[in-house]
Amino acid sequence: MQRRATSATIEPKRDRAPRVGRDRREVKRFESLVGELSAAMARVPADAVDTEIESWLGKICQALDLDRSAIYERDAPDKPVRTTHTWRRPNMPPFPRNYVPEKLLRATTKLVMAGKQITFSHPGEIPVELADARRFVERWGPKASAVIPMWAGGRVIGAASFGKFRAARQWPPELLDHLGLAVRLFGSAIERKQSVTAMRAVRAELRLASRRNMMSELVASLSHEINQPLGAILSNLGGLARLLTQGNPQPAMALEAVNSAIEDTKRTAEIVRRIRFMFKRHDEHKTAVGLGALVAEVVKLIAGEAAVRRIAVQIEVSRSAQRVNGDPVQLQQCVLNLMMNAFDAITEATSDRREVTIKVAPEKTGWVGVSVCDSGAGIAPAVANRLFEPFVTTKNDGMGLGLLVTRSIVESHGGRIWATPNPDRGATFTFTLPVGERKRQSKSRRNE
Ligand SMILES: Nc1ncnc2c1ncn2[C@@H]1O[C@H](COP(=O)(O)OP(=O)(O)O)[C@@H](O)[C@H]1O
Ligand SMILES: [Mg+2]
Repeated sequence: MQRRATSATIEPKRDRAPRVGRDRREVKRFESLVGELSAAMARVPADAVDTEIESWLGKICQALDLDRSAIYERDAPDKPVRTTHTWRRPNMPPFPRNYVPEKLLRATTKLVMAGKQITFSHPGEIPVELADARRFVERWGPKASAVIPMWAGGRVIGAASFGKFRAARQWPPELLDHLGLAVRLFGSAIERKQSVTAMRAVRAELRLASRRNMMSELVASLSHEINQPLGAILSNLGGLARLLTQGNPQPAMALEAVNSAIEDTKRTAEIVRRIRFMFKRHDEHKTAVGLGALVAEVVKLIAGEAAVRRIAVQIEVSRSAQRVNGDPVQLQQCVLNLMMNAFDAITEATSDRREVTIKVAPEKTGWVGVSVCDSGAGIAPAVANRLFEPFVTTKNDGMGLGLLVTRSIVESHGGRIWATPNPDRGATFTFTLPVGERKRQSKSRRNE
């Protein structure tokens, strides 16, 4: 193996003067390419960042007559470094299979990720300490290379490498400055992409949690609703069977039993229809929604539950409440969550007044408010500041997700939600949503 002093540089064989001129021209051309790169990175949407970066690796290599380039990313300081983007000139050696930089280039990777730039103009220039880089170059063969840490938001999130295989090449400091800027631009685009992806993951998680939560609350209340008519049907049919076996049909009584079994069957079918309606659309689908009708639908859905718990539900809808733009299924779920909580609070209070009032009314200009007011036990001081946090519950069988999910839906509709204790007893939960944009402006003007 060669043992050359690390500081030694090899003088170029050619004349200095024309080289310098050529270097300058290259730097100038590259500077304007980085300007274009900067504009492209500012424009590119998060979803297209990766393909855009890969195409720019190619443009950079072509501009600097290089052969191979790659970007490496690390998601967190304790995570391994991965190769995420590559470009190579046709006929140039591919990257080693299953290339894990930290395995093949342990010391070098550590140095780069600590923020140090490593360049060599020919293999003899690789510092002796970086034995792993020497071995790598001997085996895989770039003749010149620049490995540049990728900074974003004050930390190194990865690196970029640029290699030339066909010949050695110099890396003038000015050129390295521009290359460093290009890598920084890649870094901030990647960071932007990562934060968008992370946000999407959180939203997807919440949507899932919300569906699970809705299911469990619905199943609890609906199994009750369905069991009731089923029990009634069973007893009517049992009575009818008895009449028939006694050989004494008593047509009037038999008819009554059959009719009430039919009614109960219809009721059960109606409940099933409503459940299917609620779950029919799974994707977010925003339309103009009248909150009064929406609230009425939810109240119908839990009427059985209210009856069993002996709770009177009152709806007050202001005529001037405008429509909002939203996903009706998700908004129904918000109302359902707040109603079920109100029922629970009343059940816990075992008080004589058992009422829930749900109001839909304009709130400031351009907003509609929905408030659910109960005569329950009131908000427990232990959870008062954490109501909307996940897994906060005072109930034995509570999941502590209802309010979290409700808030996430309300906020994704541009609204707000809060809770206030009532002056006498119980609590009021209110959410507000911006009114939807008026579509038929011209019509309302004609009416004036
Ligand atoms: N209307 C209400 N009155 C009093 N406390 C309430 C009311 N609604 C919610 N809370 C409190 O907030 C907690 C969290 O509610 P939620 O997120 O829906 O979860 P869960 O209903 O599963 O407990 C409840 O356990 C309860 O202590
Ligand atoms: Mg709840």
